Amino acid sequence: MPLFTLFFFAYLVGSFPTALIIGKVFYGIDIRKYGSFNPGATNSLRVLGKKAGVTVLLFDVSKGALAAALPFLFEVDIDPLYLGLAAVLGHCFPILAGFRGGKAIATTAGALLIANPLMLFISYITFFLVIFITKYVFLGSISIGMTLLLYVLIEPGLKHELLFFLYLILLIYLHRSNIINFIHHQEPVFNDKNLKKD
Ligand code: G3P
Repeated sequence: MPLFTLFFFAYLVGSFPTALIIGKVFYGIDIRKYGSFNPGATNSLRVLGKKAGVTVLLFDVSKGALAAALPFLFEVDIDPLYLGLAAVLGHCFPILAGFRGGKAIATTAGALLIANPLMLFISYITFFLVIFITKYVFLGSISIGMTLLLYVLIEPGLKHELLFFLYLILLIYLHRSNIINFIHHQEPVFNDKNLKKD
């Protein structure tokens, strides 16, 4: 299969708007109009509850994992990380949902699960630690980008510095509303009960 087709397929897999579909089909709402307005697992958990949050999380992780597994499925010699990140781009800028997508975190986890489990482990341990300490999910999310960049900078043999620098910039861009809210003391903490939809 030509590389472009493979990348486009990975992007399309990532584009599947899980939170939007779960919100519309099972709860009759557009998740992009509630809570943080983000069509992702965190906001689904906040607004719709545990069942929806976990379902969105599992689907969004699977998108990254499936895309990163494409080189093995099609026996193509390419770093699975690239295809996993194509799915992350699809998740954040989905052609199937007006390019208004999520904030990368769950789909990145799936991509790393297949492409580099050690990077997954280190960055998501940091993620949970930062959330545990600060109670802010967005700080944990941005710490993933910082940890990954630090990891590729100090790990000999990995040549992904530019890629993960750009990934960190992307995370900061995607979390710009969280950063602005935080500065104005309006960012909700993890699982803020006030944002739950009745
Ligand atoms: O994983 C998404 C997270 O980084 C932020 O989500 O809903 O708090 O904007 P949210």
